[in-house]
Amino acid sequence: MLSHNIKLRKINKDDTTNIYGTRYFSQPIPKFEIPEEGMPPKVAYRLVHDELNLDGNPNLNLASFVTTWMEDEAEKLIAENNGKNFVDNDGYPQTDVIHSRIVNMLAKLFNAPEDSNFDGTSTIGSSEAIMLALLAHKWYWRENRKDKNLNVIPNIVIGADVHIVWKKFAKYFDVELRMVPMEENCYILTADKVKEHVDENTMAIGVVLGTTFTGQIDEINEINGVLEEIKISKGWDIPIHVDAASGGFVMPFINPDFEWDFRLSHVRSINVSGHKYGLVYPGIGWVIFKDAEYISEDLVFNVNYLGGVMPTFSLNFSKGSSMILAQYYNLLRLGIKGYTNIMENLMETSQYLLNKINDIGTFDFLNDELVLPIITIKLKDEFLECISVFEISKMLRGYGWIVPAYTLPFNAENTAVLRIVIKENFSRSMTDLLVRRLDEIHKYCRLKRDNLKHEDLSKKSLINIY
Ligand SMILES: Cc1ncc(COP(=O)(O)O)c(C=O)c1O
Repeated sequence: MLSHNIKLRKINKDDTTNIYGTRYFSQPIPKFEIPEEGMPPKVAYRLVHDELNLDGNPNLNLASFVTTWMEDEAEKLIAENNGKNFVDNDGYPQTDVIHSRIVNMLAKLFNAPEDSNFDGTSTIGSSEAIMLALLAHKWYWRENRKDKNLNVIPNIVIGADVHIVWKKFAKYFDVELRMVPMEENCYILTADKVKEHVDENTMAIGVVLGTTFTGQIDEINEINGVLEEIKISKGWDIPIHVDAASGGFVMPFINPDFEWDFRLSHVRSINVSGHKYGLVYPGIGWVIFKDAEYISEDLVFNVNYLGGVMPTFSLNFSKGSSMILAQYYNLLRLGIKGYTNIMENLMETSQYLLNKINDIGTFDFLNDELVLPIITIKLKDEFLECISVFEISKMLRGYGWIVPAYTLPFNAENTAVLRIVIKENFSRSMTDLLVRRLDEIHKYCRLKRDNLKHEDLSKKSLINIY
């Protein structure tokens, strides 16, 4: 092979070349085995850094909910605290104090009653938060039926609009999943459906504030009403867990009077992703319980081998402290007013984009009433024959924009959509640039629809046509 014939040069130290003149850049990079010899830090950095240029640009990533920008001061705090293991609260007691302050702030943001004994914890993200909440509900359900048959498998009732983590939980932790199918033109969990699916072994209902698939909101308030009726008529006290992964840091700021949280009698636990609209880099999530009584002591483990006695309620043991501290930074830095300003901007941008897409005319909306800064669109019937959302997603990717295309879940899988998640650093002018591309794509779709011959199209690049 060619590389065997190359005479290796030593790393150049005489300043007659830059880093790219050193031997490391004419050699293959180790890929499958740890190299015998290391390399200078600048070289290792540059090799990894340059390879990552093949990744998409996070700032053009309208697929992910995850934060892609934080202020310099937040980044400084993150860098300063990267070496602190959060679980070691004996070593880092002040981090633990700050963690408790955030739990307090979030419980209040979610309207936990003043006199309630709320509790909660940080997690790696909403997935861990949901798993912990559901484990707590499973234990609570079990402990409250001690005199009954314990061999029964409990169930959770959810809509097919839930995130994959709900299915994972049911499989990993042996719970029956009662998943209410979607219907064409109804992509959320409704109160009527819940009524049909619950029984005395329902350990929790899962509802979503901002579904992953369409950004809509399940009928949380109405479902709460159904559960209140069931409690009176049948005596079953069924808790609701609200998956507020994306909506939990938006709704309290744009629509504080909308009741979806601990103001509702059956809402006992809520998760939110700090790394989504909490505006912190990944991975940070939170789970908050309306009352500590819902967390069985059986699920909290005390460890003593880091010094002191530490209670832990988590799926993972070690984790970084930085994102917890970055969350606190944002809460202090922005306050209610700052978060409100940002979330209102996001909603304005979303509405602007929605109007523009509507004017262009390629797509119909799944959620034309915007409740969160998430837009989900499907092709109008007239274009279905000539193009797919998957092709459009690929075309946008060619321009750098990452916009995912996917089919809806069970019973609505014939509907394929594109989803655009608006994040704080997606400005009006960036929106206009995206709109320009969507407009070009629309013209292309029209040409295809109007039976322009494929050969003719292939002769011209998209740009030439327009
Ligand atoms: C509604 C919903 N729940 C849960 C999750 C999982 O969240 P995380 O990525 O924070 O684990 C997501 C992720 O997008 C989500 O949209």
